[in-house]
Amino acid sequence: MSQVAVTQWSMRDIEMGDVRFPYYVGYDCLDRIAHSLLAADADRFLLVTDTTVERLHGDRLVEELSRHAPVTVLSKPPGEATKSLACLSEHLERALAAGASRASMVVTLGGGVPGNLGGMLAALLYRGIRLVHIPTTTVAAMDSVLSLKQAVNSPFGKNHIGCYHAPTAVYADVATLLTLPERELRSGLCEMAKNCLAIRPQALTELHEILGESSVASEEAFEWMLEEGIAAKSLVMRRDPHERHAGLVLEYGHTVGHAIEYCHQRRWGSHGISHGEAISLGMVVAARISRAIGVLDDDAVALHEGLAAALGVPPEMPDGISLDEVLAVVAADNKRGYLKVTQHEAAMVLLRALGVPLGPVDRPLVAVDLELVEDAVAGLILDSRVS
Ligand SMILES: NC(=O)c1ccc[n+]([C@@H]2O[C@H](COP(=O)([O-])OP(=O)(O)OC[C@H]3O[C@@H](n4cnc5c(N)ncnc54)[C@H](O)[C@@H]3O)[C@@H](O)[C@H]2O)c1
Repeated sequence: MSQVAVTQWSMRDIEMGDVRFPYYVGYDCLDRIAHSLLAADADRFLLVTDTTVERLHGDRLVEELSRHAPVTVLSKPPGEATKSLACLSEHLERALAAGASRASMVVTLGGGVPGNLGGMLAALLYRGIRLVHIPTTTVAAMDSVLSLKQAVNSPFGKNHIGCYHAPTAVYADVATLLTLPERELRSGLCEMAKNCLAIRPQALTELHEILGESSVASEEAFEWMLEEGIAAKSLVMRRDPHERHAGLVLEYGHTVGHAIEYCHQRRWGSHGISHGEAISLGMVVAARISRAIGVLDDDAVALHEGLAAALGVPPEMPDGISLDEVLAVVAADNKRGYLKVTQHEAAMVLLRALGVPLGPVDRPLVAVDLELVEDAVAGLILDSRVS
């Protein structure tokens, strides 16, 4: 990110059902964030991060916070593999051994992985202690911190073990995004693309404009992503803060996307596909399935494919993972049980038009034959061979 001039300290009020919390945004403001956290009068800070973010941005925060209260740094190597019960258990034991109490505060610094791990830690310690997020990826800043869902993965798939826990506040320092690789910056835009396709198609033009620029790392892009992320999520989460009903539309692209992300990161660790890239592929697959059952036309599918390509995600299967392993994870998707499906079906969000889910409004899921999923995922493999 070359020059980001978000110099003002601004605050947005986030509302999800009965839950409200402030979302502060500033530039080069880790000191100010630390100062603000001190007002919470915590007896200890439990800083959940990963080793990359700790190295890049952690020291400054720890230095500031530890002037006033002890800081326990809970840091793991980056990547989806650490979103596990084993790492969570290690964090819990280390926090307790360090003397964490009900008056302690969990502070997450990083992307969605430390965010989710820290969210689980805060929810479980003494049945719930305070949680503050400092997101340092676009996915976290625009998406995961705007959700009450916290989870870790199981050996069978993504986000199988989780709960709901709200942060007391979110603080984003836009300057921390400067160190993100371009690919990770774009990852957040993929979630934005999902919001546009499934909830607010009127924002597609602006998304295309941002993608047409040479770099997505501009002040305008960040501001737009934040405003658009809040607008789209607020639309559904004000009334469905737990994302169990109408809010399930946010799962668009996630059934197959999560499976590809899970398998690829299991194979390649943190060098695997990013969350946003995987969701883009999941949306292409979902659109092709909608076409196969006759509810979306070629233009809508081409729009999905074009958007994915513009996001830097050619609609192809990433290397090193097989159709069978992806399908096994799809079959274990964590939406199982929301909708009665047979063992030959998966519950998915599909669209019947841009911004209009195919399933019922109060729970937009449909049962999709796994053979259709298989065909659409096989299509990605075929496309990778052709290119
Ligand atoms: N509702 C929710 O809670 C929700 C929503 C969306 C995503 N998620 C979860 O979030 C995770 C994906 O989030 P993510 O993409 O942020 O993943 P991540 O936390 O793994 O971060 C991605 C990579 O960026 C690096 N990184 C983070 N900040 C950096 C910085 N400022 N500079 C340089 N490198 C930096 C990390 O070290 C990591 O390698 C998934 O596990 C997904 O399931 C949860």
